[in-house]
Amino acid sequence: MTSELPFSQACENNKDPILSVLQDTIANKESLLEIAGGTGQHAVYFAGHFPELHWQSSDIPDNVDTLNLRLIDAGLHNLPRALSLDVNQSDWACDRVDAIFSANSLHIMSTASVENFFRGVGRTLHKGGLLLVYGPFKYGNRFTTESNAQFDRWLKARDPASGVRDFEWIDSLARAQNLQLLKDHAMPANNQLLVWKEIG
Ligand SMILES: C[S@@+](CC[C@H](N)C(=O)[O-])C[C@H]1O[C@@H](n2cnc3c(N)ncnc32)[C@H](O)[C@@H]1O
Repeated sequence: MTSELPFSQACENNKDPILSVLQDTIANKESLLEIAGGTGQHAVYFAGHFPELHWQSSDIPDNVDTLNLRLIDAGLHNLPRALSLDVNQSDWACDRVDAIFSANSLHIMSTASVENFFRGVGRTLHKGGLLLVYGPFKYGNRFTTESNAQFDRWLKARDPASGVRDFEWIDSLARAQNLQLLKDHAMPANNQLLVWKEIG
């Protein structure tokens, strides 16, 4: 069965470094919404480590059935079927949550979709809630490494609307939703895990 499930080697590589940050960050949270769940490897792994946390994964309509293959296979009590959720929906049609997590998604989305991501986060997070975003970022309009610059060129050749995002732009979108940056974790493979808190 497992061989038929969607698989990402990157998820296998990054799940433990991400888990160690989550253990310090969301251990006391009760509800979390994952945006752009992809293969479901993160959802299954993290929900398994936080049995008291209701982990609601989601992805766009075209990808949610694939995501659900792994979630249904896992059969975890705190991991319901994923929601069909495109960040561009004006209504995310989900309950408010204590935390929102998304990995490797903002560089795939268009800039308009990234803006809608943050608007949706603002509507969906409880007061005092946390936003955790994993992926590569630029700082001061500079790539952190040549490999991230190459990755950006690869992304844009595939889809000109995509690309590695500027941390400063992302943080300004977060601040507009009353989110204050708590920590920028440097992660393996030239990625970051950014953590904001809702302070409205
Ligand atoms: C590179 S994959 C990352 C998947 C997974 N989070 C991971 O870390 O492997 C990018 C994901 O972004 C999702 N995505 C793209 N556009 C989206 C949108 N407008 N709203 C929500 N998710 C979107 C895709 O469906 C895909 O699952």
